[in-house]
This record gives sequence, structure tokens and C-alpha cells, in this order.
Amino acid sequence: TGYVTLDRGYKNTGATKSAITFLDGEEGILRYRGYSIEELASKASFLEVAYLLIYGELPTKEQYAQFEGAIRHHTLVNEDMRKIFDGFPVKAHPMCVLASLVSAMSGFYPESYEGNGDENLDIVRLIAKLPTIATWSYKRSMGHPLNYPKNKLGYIENFLNMMFALPVEDYTVDPVVAEALNILLILHADHEQNCSTSTVRLVGSSQANLYASISAGISALWGPLHGGANQEVIEMLEEIKAGGGDVAKYIDMAKNAKTTGFRLFGFGHRVYKNFDPRAKIIKKAADDVLSKLGVNDPVLEIAKGLEEAALNDEYFVSRKLYPNVDFYSGIIYRALGIPTNMFTVMFAIGRLPGWIAQWKEMRETKEPIGRPRQIYTGSTLREFVPMENR
Ligand code: CMC
Repeated sequence: TGYVTLDRGYKNTGATKSAITFLDGEEGILRYRGYSIEELASKASFLEVAYLLIYGELPTKEQYAQFEGAIRHHTLVNEDMRKIFDGFPVKAHPMCVLASLVSAMSGFYPESYEGNGDENLDIVRLIAKLPTIATWSYKRSMGHPLNYPKNKLGYIENFLNMMFALPVEDYTVDPVVAEALNILLILHADHEQNCSTSTVRLVGSSQANLYASISAGISALWGPLHGGANQEVIEMLEEIKAGGGDVAKYIDMAKNAKTTGFRLFGFGHRVYKNFDPRAKIIKKAADDVLSKLGVNDPVLEIAKGLEEAALNDEYFVSRKLYPNVDFYSGIIYRALGIPTNMFTVMFAIGRLPGWIAQWKEMRETKEPIGRPRQIYTGSTLREFVPMENR
């Protein structure tokens, strides 16, 4: 009871105070713990950024060595987790497998919910094991044996090795690929109170354990309006290409979103109303990476054509719809050899430190349980009718 304000989709409701990520949608500014996304993406390593988000400061040499070393040490996944994985149909989407296996992790580390665990160890385990689990779906889809992690490799190199190494030939990580992935993961690492992060906080606010909370975040991220958009973008661009490159037709369909139900994927954002600073960096990176790798992907030209057409169209201009982080990221992932149905998994690996940081902050600031109100629109009191009289 009492006065309830309705704010569908929480467009204007602040759910928490937070000291992690600063975002100014009008100016296109994004900062983690005060550091600009542009500087972090060009100067830091992904694990350095993960440490910054989770613990609040850039790590010293010793802190970094300790954090990175602990992650290397925990990359191996319990063999019984593989038995669970083997029970999934091969066709299961990698995001379904990822959410399920992360949820299963709490069963392997019951101290996480029994209250006698070590939070820092859970954090390390999650960061260490997520890439290992992620590569399983891809390997099996190819009919390849799964690769074990190698502790001599760094975080990104280890992921790439588990993805692409085959027992029959040597595999060395191309530094251009590793560097591109480092930038992409950093750009995805946090984004304040987005849908999946709010989910992690809401689940965690009931004092559910970290694995359960992160698993819920992965499920939220999967949706096509959120992280799932990166897969939708490439599928849309492919469709445009197959139809002869008729960009105008798709612009028209998007302008009539109300009747067609079609949205231009990778366009629009709840908060950014001038540009998405991540999209700016990614667009440039797409050009760089494709040219360094000698990849000529016709879909990049279609994407640029689509962006130009949209940015010159009154519909998109008046609604302040610009390319978001998902618009060009898939083109880079593809150039790195990552298949389309793994794009959202890549987003999840990147977003993990942000989810963890937000979950940890929520616990430390002793946020109350999340429990939105509603405005009831159903029947008033009515009398029960026995089944024979209905
Ligand atoms: N194509 C066509 N029209 C659009 C689009 C789009 N992509 N996005 C928004 N609009 C229109 C919408 O129809 C509405 O028009 P009107 O004022 O006439 O009713 C207006 O723009 C405002 O849109 P909204 O749906 O009220 O905005 P929102 O803040 O609720 O939604 C969004 C934000 C990101 C869900 C939406 O822009 C969208 O669906 N974009 C496509 C999916 C996508 O790319 N998602 C990734 C988001 S960024 C990173 C991430 O989270 O993964």
C-alpha cells in the first residue's frame, strides 16, 4: 500500500548508488572507476580492468601477479561438469549451456551458499573457468575433442588455444587476434545498471550465491534486445547481403517497426542519445583488425552503408538512434574465427567482471532485497464459481 509510481522498464528510476561505472549518455562518456574507456581499451589488459572493476583500484605489480596467477591456477573445470555438459544436445545454444553450467558450479562449491566460503576464491574460479566452459560448445559443434586449459598461457591466449588448437597440428596465437579480443573484452566489461547487471543484483539481493546470480545474468544477456543483439546484427547483415544489399528496404522496415515488428539490431540505446563511445572504438578496430588480418568481409561495407543511411534518416535522427556496441563487434569476432552463435558468449566473458563488481558492491553496501511494486489492473473481488457451473 502507499503511493506507487509506475516506471515501466525503469526508464527513470535509479535502483542503487554505485561507485563503479560512470556513464553520460548525452556526452557519450563511459568510465570505469574514473578511467576513460578510450584509455583503458588502448593501454590496459582485460584482467587489469577486471581487477580495477572488482577491487576499485588498478592493481600494483604484486597484486596483479597474485590475481592473474590465481586465475591461471583455476582454469581447469571439474570433470563431473563435463558429464553435465555431455548431456546437452549438440544443437543447444552456447548461451543455454553457459548459463546452466555456471548455475551448476554452485553445486560443486557448496560453501558458496553454506556461508563458509571464500568470496575471492569464487570470483577467481568464475573468471578462470568461464572461458574454458565457453569453448566446449564450439569444440563439440565442430566434432573436435575438447581442449584442456594450459597454465603457461595468459588469459586470452588460453581461450584462443582452447577454441582453435587441434591435436593434429601446432597452433600459435596471432598477437593481432589476441589484442583485438583484449579490446573487445574491456569494452564489454561493465555498463552500470543494464538488464543483465540489474538481474545479477536483484538475484543477489535475496542473498543467493555468486554463481546463481551470475547464471541469471547470463540468461538475461542472451535476449536479442540485450547481448543477443550481436548475433542478430550479423544475421541481419547476412540477410541483406543475400538479398543483393538492399539497405533501403531494411531502413524502411525499421522505420515501420510498429507494424513490421522489425528493429535495426545494433541500433539504439536506453542511455546513449548522441553516440555510444564503445561503438566508436569498435568501428575503428573493425577496420584495423580486418586490414591487419587481410580479411575482406563484404558485410563490413553493408554495415557502413546501413549506418550512413540510418544516420541520414529523419526517423533515426529524431529518435536519437545510433549504432551501439553490438553493431560492429560481430564483424570483428567473425574475422577472428569466432562463429556467430558464440558472439553473445564473448560478451558474457567480457561482462563477467562487471557483474561480479556490482554483486560485490551490492553486498558491501548492504542493499535491501530488490522488490519492485506494481499497479494492479485485474478484477476486483469476485465469488468462486464451482467447475460444474462454469
Ligand atoms: N530500430 C528501429 N526503431 C527503434 C530501434 C531500432 N533498433 N530502437 C528504438 N527504436 C524506436 C522505437 O520504436 C521507439 O519509437 P517511437 O518513439 O516511435 O515509439 C523509439 O525508437 C524509442 O525506443 P524504445 O524502444 O522506447 O527505447 P528503449 O530505451 O526502450 O530501447 C533498445 C533500447 C536498445 C532495447 C532499443 O533501441 C532496441 O531494441 N535496439 C535494437 C536491439 C539492440 O541493438 N540491442 C543492443 C543494445 S546495446 C548493448 C546491449 O545491451 O547489448
